Amino acid sequence: MVRFISFEGGDGSGKTTQVKLLERYLVSKGMACCSTREPGGTMLGRMLRKALLEVGKKEISSPAELFLYLADRAQHVQEVISPAFQQRTIVLCDRFSDSTLAYQGFGRGIDLNLLRRLNRLASCDIVPELTFLLDCPVEVGLSRIRKQVAAGRLSDASAGANTRKGQDRFEREEVEFHERVRQGFLELARSEPDRVCVVDALESIGQVHERIRKVVDAKMKEIP
Ligand code: TYD
Repeated sequence: MVRFISFEGGDGSGKTTQVKLLERYLVSKGMACCSTREPGGTMLGRMLRKALLEVGKKEISSPAELFLYLADRAQHVQEVISPAFQQRTIVLCDRFSDSTLAYQGFGRGIDLNLLRRLNRLASCDIVPELTFLLDCPVEVGLSRIRKQVAAGRLSDASAGANTRKGQDRFEREEVEFHERVRQGFLELARSEPDRVCVVDALESIGQVHERIRKVVDAKMKEIP
């Protein structure tokens, strides 16, 4: 049985779609399940998310950025994730602590051990039992985002406003940054193969969902 599943991957890897599909699947099987996201899973988090995604690249220092993500997580755990556990609800989370290791650690160069300690503080030691890493080449992810922006489909629905306003700060970053993030995620997956399941995000939405479903079905049958 798993109670906390996170979805990780680069920008444009399709996590959000897969979270929704898995939520629908688990609910159809009669399971209590909710989906949430970081940054932006709480009201405070939505304010932080807006600031994080819109602020100009040069206006925020790496430590300031890190603390905003950690603040978002601390509030999210207290307000959403822990209460859901108490109600025996399965939580599906679009990004969690691994994103901090990949983006702020591998991407920005902040010490990984320091980040692990800060993650523990922000998350009250909560670790996902299962993590899906949706992996695809950086260029593919970024071009998917460009297409969504062009089609006007990329909006921040849960915040009730379009906070992406075209290309946000991260999409403007150089490809090498995203490449470091991608390799970082893959390294995290190699170091924790029992928890992190790498899924090829180049496959169709249906194929990716099928793979995820199989892994989740198998895990749900395991004795707690
Ligand atoms: P979001 O729009 O949620 O991206 P996506 O839809 O691709 O998940 O934006 C979140 C951005 O925040 C994303 O580029 C990754 C970044 N991020 C961090 O840098 N550190 C973190 O700890 C988290 C949770 C996200």
